[in-house]
Amino acid sequence: MIVMMFAKFVLSMAGMVFVGQEVANLSTRLRLRLIDGIMKARWGFFTSQPTGRFTAAVSTDSDRAATAFKQAGLIFAKFVEILVYFVGALFISWQFSVAAVVLCVLLWIAVSRYMRMAKRAGRGKTKYNQRLAGAVTEVLTNIKALKAMNRHGHIAAVFDTDIDKLSRALRRENDSNAAVVALQDPLLAGFLVTGIYFGYNYFGMPFEALVATIWLLRRIAAKIGEIRAGMQGMFIDSSAFWSTVALIEETEIEAEQMQKGSSMILQNEARFADVSFAYPSRDVMKDINIAIEAGKVTTIIGPSGSGKTTIADLLVGLHQPRSGQVLIDGMSLKDGDLRQWRNRIGYIPQDNILFNDTVAQNVTLGDATIDNSRIEAALKLAGAWQFVSRLPAGLDEMVGVRGNLLSGGQRQRLSIARALINDPNLLILDEATSALDHDTALEICDSVRSLAGQRTILAITHQSLWIDAADRIYEMENGSVTLAEKHSS
Ligand SMILES: Nc1ncnc2c1ncn2[C@@H]1O[C@H](COP(=O)(O)OP(=O)(O)OP(=O)(O)O)[C@@H](O)[C@H]1O
Ligand SMILES: [Mg+2]
Repeated sequence: MIVMMFAKFVLSMAGMVFVGQEVANLSTRLRLRLIDGIMKARWGFFTSQPTGRFTAAVSTDSDRAATAFKQAGLIFAKFVEILVYFVGALFISWQFSVAAVVLCVLLWIAVSRYMRMAKRAGRGKTKYNQRLAGAVTEVLTNIKALKAMNRHGHIAAVFDTDIDKLSRALRRENDSNAAVVALQDPLLAGFLVTGIYFGYNYFGMPFEALVATIWLLRRIAAKIGEIRAGMQGMFIDSSAFWSTVALIEETEIEAEQMQKGSSMILQNEARFADVSFAYPSRDVMKDINIAIEAGKVTTIIGPSGSGKTTIADLLVGLHQPRSGQVLIDGMSLKDGDLRQWRNRIGYIPQDNILFNDTVAQNVTLGDATIDNSRIEAALKLAGAWQFVSRLPAGLDEMVGVRGNLLSGGQRQRLSIARALINDPNLLILDEATSALDHDTALEICDSVRSLAGQRTILAITHQSLWIDAADRIYEMENGSVTLAEKHSS
């Protein structure tokens, strides 16, 4: 027995060390692959996904996945231990071996119901955690409107349902744990008493054999208990593992095709040639033709929902035309090097959101090679230097969650600086000055206009100042585009 115990010690230690290392590796690998997948997925994939899926997967689910994996490893280690006991048992008596197998089966059957319960609890935990993570993110983004109109009560009611379901899953998890632990002792006691009775009276087992048998049976029962606890943990957390793996696979399938093609510089023009595009639920444009001349200011106007932002997204390659082509100097965007094309673009999206970081970080987006003089120059061009230089910490001032310590117009100017910092060939402004007073907007419009010549500017707007500044104006309406007369508005 001493030899057996020693063998067990060596085997289980080796198992534990291996499992520990692999668990740490696994959660790291899952997170890295997931983040890589998320970053590389195509834009259309994001717009169709609930945000909570990503947040929950990167935070809680990756850890739970690793825990499930650890449990699986521990189960294996315990299983090896049980095997060692069984081999030992064979040396004592065949009766014992039969008894041990019966014990295993009985204990297993007695708790199988609670194992199923654990599995269900795990699935609920994964599902409602994801839903809550998503809902909280979305509500926090809109909290101002909710509070201002006292409407947060209705949304909170929606949370309550999910929280209630999550709590039900947690209760189920606890119940199944408690039931399994509670069942262990009475089952074992009953079994031992019956075993001793039959062993002594009918099989004539000698006293020493009985003592050894009871000792071994207790050990085996304890190990089975541990295995079951491990399996329970594994069942509870395995749904997080599968859900994370599924998300990784999905993001990898939805990866953007970033082929190495010829480089696109935009020396002459960007052209939409008979481009049609539709979202799954809606046709947006049909056979449109646009020429965006290099070095000039092109302005696109048109009613809300007519597809102006969609044009910008097609030009950047975030969407692909259903038919027709987007051509840069005569070469189709799908044949060119998209990564390199985007490196040349400064894009100010319609709803810009700042990170909860410093002014400088928001402008450089973490690119440490950009020095302060370049940041300052971009801020000046964007008309932001005046207010930034007055902030107590200047470039190092924190802008708050989504930039809420700044005014709407200040946030817009930081977004413009962010787009200008890389000295882009093509600058796309989607309603970029809509939150600014006329004079500030005009100032920015003038400084952006002064960039034309070297750079190509595409402005999407309702503001007349961009129409005045334009070399060419297109008007979008009902899925088609017409060249508008200059100064027509
Ligand atoms: N991800 C999407 N999925 C489905 N439909 C979308 C999506 N994005 C936009 N749409 C729809 O496509 C149409 C064009 O949208 P787009 O954002 O291009 O309009 P827009 O001209 O920029 O409007 P606005 O002036 O209000 O910004 C809209 O009717 C909109 O409902
Ligand atoms: Mg738009």
